[in-house]
Amino acid sequence: MQRYYFDHNATTPVSPEVLEAMLPVMTEVFGNPSSIHHYGQAARAKLDAARRQVAAMLHCSDNEIVFTSGGTESDNLAILGIGGHVITTSIEHPAVLASADQLSVTQVPVDRSGIVDPDAIRNAIRPDTKLITVMHVNNELGTIQPVEEIGRIARDAGFAFHSDGVQAAGKVPIDVRAIHADIYAISGHKIYAPKGTGALFIRKGLNLRPQMYGGSHESRHRAGTQNVAGAVALGAAAQWINQHAAAEWPDLAALRDRLERSILSRVADTHVNAAGSLRAPNVTNIRFDGIDSEALLIALDLRGFAVSAGSACSSGAQEPSPVLIAIGLTREQAKSSIRFSLGRSNDAAQVDALIDAVAESVAHLRKLAPAYA
Ligand SMILES: Cc1ncc(COP(=O)(O)O)c(C=O)c1O
Repeated sequence: MQRYYFDHNATTPVSPEVLEAMLPVMTEVFGNPSSIHHYGQAARAKLDAARRQVAAMLHCSDNEIVFTSGGTESDNLAILGIGGHVITTSIEHPAVLASADQLSVTQVPVDRSGIVDPDAIRNAIRPDTKLITVMHVNNELGTIQPVEEIGRIARDAGFAFHSDGVQAAGKVPIDVRAIHADIYAISGHKIYAPKGTGALFIRKGLNLRPQMYGGSHESRHRAGTQNVAGAVALGAAAQWINQHAAAEWPDLAALRDRLERSILSRVADTHVNAAGSLRAPNVTNIRFDGIDSEALLIALDLRGFAVSAGSACSSGAQEPSPVLIAIGLTREQAKSSIRFSLGRSNDAAQVDALIDAVAESVAHLRKLAPAYA
């Protein structure tokens, strides 16, 4: 059976150019980048080049990039490394919410459009506030937060601003200076690099307490011999984004809009969650009245289409998505929503096949559901 992947916000495959860049690093350039001999220096050169590529993607200096094991570690380092009272939103990824829960935290709600009101952030400031952490792009809805305005609030108040940019990288322009970010997290496996790779931008001069102690790697921000092949992969993924991603966005948005429009017109009683908000070009989250999202996910999987009900981290659980509850959906509405996230492998023919599969699956499931009038 032909299979099509519409779950790029969960993870992406490693792209050919990323694989090509990282493979020789595993076998030939295998030195420890802290060693001073030839082998070590060759690995160091690869690591430095990768750091420049990632820095170019975020528009910062290469000495402000710390390689990590992924988005979760980057978020933990950013939040626990600052400490104090933290202001965040109700739609953050668990990597942020659970880290902030270790501290004193205020969760600011979002409205139905999935966007946080900067004034609500400002009103949550306390004398002991040390950090605002607001994600750049939401993983389930694709909504783009007003990070520039929020960053300005933190800057004016004199404390740090962290943004989780895991779902922003490769999908929207990123300029950490323009949004006044002090800390900014990215993950490799959302941008066609392997799982277990990531980075954190740490503004030069920011005092961030390490979360791992050991050697003086990564400017003392993160102890442990670097995953050189992983960093090189992340660098190659960033390089591709630097050169090609912006040209891809209009096409991705057109495919997403085609998917959204066709489902809304062909399938009755469907709604786009957070419709009308500024969103990343590759994702739509659609609610199908009277449908259990897990049942629809499985029906689509049986037809060869991979989609998501909630985020990958919470799927498998019976609980509705906290993000969808946070934007005001009822439990039932949240449990009837599906996320479609597009990526490089998708084309119009695949989208059209997906639309047919959704229409047929929903019709079938609704016939089976006596409660659906
Ligand atoms: C917004 C966001 N932040 C953080 C993460 C965690 O990243 P990683 O899987 O690299 O630990 C994810 C992954 O789903 C995410 O979507």
